[in-house]
Amino acid sequence: MTILVTGGAGYIGSHTVLELLNSNQQVLVLDNYSNSTRESLERVTKIAGRKIDVVRGDIRDASLLKSIFSSYSVSSVVHFAGLKSVGESVEKPLEYYDNNVVGTRVLLDVMNSFGLKKIVFSSSATVYGDPAEVPIREGFPTGATTNPYGTSKHFVERMLMDLCTADPKWHAISLRYFNPVGAHSSGLIGEDPNDIPNNLMPYVSQVAVGKLKELSVFGNDYSTHDGTGVRDYIHVVDLALGHLAALNKIESLSGFTAVNLGTGKGHSVLDMVQAFENITGKKIPYKIVSRRPGDIAICYADPSYAEKILAWKATRGLSDMIRDTWNWQSKNPNGYKG
Ligand code: NAD
Ligand code: UD1
Repeated sequence: MTILVTGGAGYIGSHTVLELLNSNQQVLVLDNYSNSTRESLERVTKIAGRKIDVVRGDIRDASLLKSIFSSYSVSSVVHFAGLKSVGESVEKPLEYYDNNVVGTRVLLDVMNSFGLKKIVFSSSATVYGDPAEVPIREGFPTGATTNPYGTSKHFVERMLMDLCTADPKWHAISLRYFNPVGAHSSGLIGEDPNDIPNNLMPYVSQVAVGKLKELSVFGNDYSTHDGTGVRDYIHVVDLALGHLAALNKIESLSGFTAVNLGTGKGHSVLDMVQAFENITGKKIPYKIVSRRPGDIAICYADPSYAEKILAWKATRGLSDMIRDTWNWQSKNPNGYKG
């Protein structure tokens, strides 16, 4: 049986494909390379010492999906494919709703017609909006999102819930990621943002490697221990293993299940800068600027439900995250471009 991984050439997808191969699963990747290149999968093949079947194409292409499900015996789908830039989603909302929501609807529709009813979906802590308290538990309200990207994740979760209500044969696990960082310890695969990174860790590592001059810290007047934003950073390999845990349990979890994937620990922007400097020995020049619109002060998970229901918990700490980010960035200053 094969696991179809949509968006498998991307940052989290490539790490998950590697862990699937390491656990002897058959994997088929479907990716349109809109935010990735074939090189990530070449490197996954190199690390795993195993070949991966890859189809270049779009999740919105129903006839392509039909031909995939006709040719392969697919047992479950791990669905990463989608667009993920918050700022871009504000400028191009229809592209986000088309890719993320319509794309998932097409995928679910074709899966349904083939009787394939098991999906693990890449959701985000962004569905909680600005939570009333932390740590965040799965039962907290969702949907008060502040941008089309976040709303698209919420819509997909609603679609999955409604589908599971309509047809009890469906099994959908929505993994709500907190802040994925780091890279595989080989330094061969990692996060390779196009243009200037929006997220903290890729920005910091590009400052460290000399590609960017200094970090702008978005606000130091939040009510946190040092005034800067606090987040739950999770190592991408722990996150990848969370998908394997979800696949292991999916048969026994009927209906829709939402699960936080985080560590339960919050670190501020300045904590991250300090830790990065300590671990890498690199100086990270920074300046304090005004808050970024849409940002919240504190966001970290209560990860206990993941441990209970998936028998999974994150085992890698901040020093692993930073060491592996730096290993990847210093070996690949221009990402997959060399
Ligand atoms: P990524 O951009 O590196 O990977 C997404 C992959 O999907 C890319 O390889 C891209 O080419 C592909 N893709 C996009 N649209 C497609 C389409 N219509 N058809 C086929 N392939 C398509 O992003 P990532 O960081 O690996 O994130 C993976 C998933 O996790 C996304 O759905 C993202 O929204 C979600 N997520 C990411 C984060 C994060 O911080 N990275 C946090 C929460 C949730
Ligand atoms: C961002 C997205 C969120 C997405 C998440 C995935 C926004 C508004 N939100 O969340 O939807 O699910 O990524 O990882 O983009 N920071 C700086 N300077 C920088 C970059 C970031 O100070 O150059 C700060 C931010 O203000 C925040 C922290 O670093 O306090 C983390 O930021 P980031 O990595 O962008 O993640 P989120 O804001 O949590």
